[in-house]
Amino acid sequence: MTLRSAHWYAGDYRNAYIHRAWMRRGSPGDAFDRPQIAIANSASDLTPCNAHLTEVARSVANGIYEAGGIPLELPVVSLGETNVRPTAMLWRNMAAMATEEMLRANPIDGVVLLGGCDKTIPSLLMAAASVDLPAVVVPGGPMLTGTFRGVPLGCGTDVWRLSEEVRAGTLSQADFTRSESSMIRSRGHCNTMGTASTMALVAEALGTTVPGIAGTPAPDSRLLEAAHGTGRLAVELVTADRRPSTILNTASFHNAIVALAAIGGSTNAVVHLLAIAGRLGVELTLDDFDRIGSRVPVLVDLLPAGRFLMDDFHRAGGLLAVLREVRDLLDPSALAVTGKPLVSYLDDASIWDAEVIRPRTEPLVAEGGIAVLRGSLAPSGALIKPAAATPELLRHRGRAVVFDSIEDFHARIDDPTLDVDASSVLVLRGCGPRGYPGMPEVSNMPLPRKLLAQGVRDMVRVCDGRMSGTAYGTVVLHVAPEAAAGGPLARVRTGDPISLDVGARRIDVEVAPDELAARTPNTDGFADPRRGWERLYVDHVLQADTGADLDFLVGSSGSEVRRESH
Ligand code: FES
Ligand code: MG
Repeated sequence: MTLRSAHWYAGDYRNAYIHRAWMRRGSPGDAFDRPQIAIANSASDLTPCNAHLTEVARSVANGIYEAGGIPLELPVVSLGETNVRPTAMLWRNMAAMATEEMLRANPIDGVVLLGGCDKTIPSLLMAAASVDLPAVVVPGGPMLTGTFRGVPLGCGTDVWRLSEEVRAGTLSQADFTRSESSMIRSRGHCNTMGTASTMALVAEALGTTVPGIAGTPAPDSRLLEAAHGTGRLAVELVTADRRPSTILNTASFHNAIVALAAIGGSTNAVVHLLAIAGRLGVELTLDDFDRIGSRVPVLVDLLPAGRFLMDDFHRAGGLLAVLREVRDLLDPSALAVTGKPLVSYLDDASIWDAEVIRPRTEPLVAEGGIAVLRGSLAPSGALIKPAAATPELLRHRGRAVVFDSIEDFHARIDDPTLDVDASSVLVLRGCGPRGYPGMPEVSNMPLPRKLLAQGVRDMVRVCDGRMSGTAYGTVVLHVAPEAAAGGPLARVRTGDPISLDVGARRIDVEVAPDELAARTPNTDGFADPRRGWERLYVDHVLQADTGADLDFLVGSSGSEVRRESH
């Protein structure tokens, strides 16, 4: 076979001379006849969850060399969930676009994708799908469990819990601050079943990792072994011409949705999977998540829905042990990146701790996937994760208390005169992809201080934003169309009755349609950026129900570049 990179390196003409001469770097003489494998590395000091990936990249490189390839480290745009403002999600599509273009522009035959923190694996998979070069993921793995005063701390989830305890007056500010240095015990991404853990496991369920490696803790030597093996595999992928479009199809996404439900994964996986499918031309809709996933039992007892952390999950058997329990729900035709059916890896899987990974007969939640709601408040759809909600609130009617932006929310939520009670429905708008911009994780609004003091711990909340995968509560999120795209959320007023009926899959504002239509939509607090990426993003971003990609990035351009550079 002729390698793609041969279009740069082969031949006696001047440009091939230039390409080779600058890339010779002391390599063996036959280096340009071998598969050139990029290691797309999202390591960055500003993405602490991924900072160890440079060590992982060395193991990948060893495996690539050993199998006869040439490893080439390619630093990619890295998104640190906790640092990046206004929200890392604003930059997911930019990271995907930059990675896609750099893979296409360079003499690359295949790529190993190194990600960890929330947006990094999604953006890398979107890029790989659109350039459609042989690709395989190594998830960077979760951090080890930290403890504070003998009690394990779950990243994210316990920050929300402890800060609410401070607001409720049951934890001192000094103790809260003291817990800070215990929260992040080691390298690696968040150790709850948040978005990073979810997307690593979903990448494995899609078939894009070597089966059995997702969830290996970041400091574990077995991660390096997996990275080494993945490096070898990347060379084989090039020889076999096995591309994302060869592996990923409707069956793979079906399995990813089953896995997402069985692990009790983050709602963020919905926008990411829709966006990845959009790049591949795989037909996937919001309703598929409800149809395929909503009746799948949650088998994994991890925070935020349960008790344990990723360390425990790995020890208990990992994703393959979970998938073995729901084998009958999987599509056996889906392949892993190794070329073998994903289900062929389940025979040897076992549950080693049935408290952490429950057998099918004793699920944590009987029906645990994501429910898709529609109604007069969300004509194109909205999500709720029933397993993270209060059962009594899944059917609820209450008066709206409306906030136009997160700043408006923060300014008023603790005002003792705010007209709100436990039955109210908190509505936050202006937090969609276009309105913020970037669809931040703010939908799990903190409760009013005066209600916390009364012992209220959950309320129905409705928002066009996302919520952290580590959060919990009765939260209706990803409302589409968002307020800033002309959705009915822009016309809701404080006092309007809102009804939620998760069983009937409905979210409605009980205002006559003509009265609602006659109201002037709110535009206060919606973004209107002047220039740069934000302007491009706001002009082109799609709504949450189709994955919040940019309209011109949907689909694939393949790997061909028609013109020379010299
Ligand atoms: Fe990086 Fe949570 S902040 S995974
Ligand atoms: Mg997160």
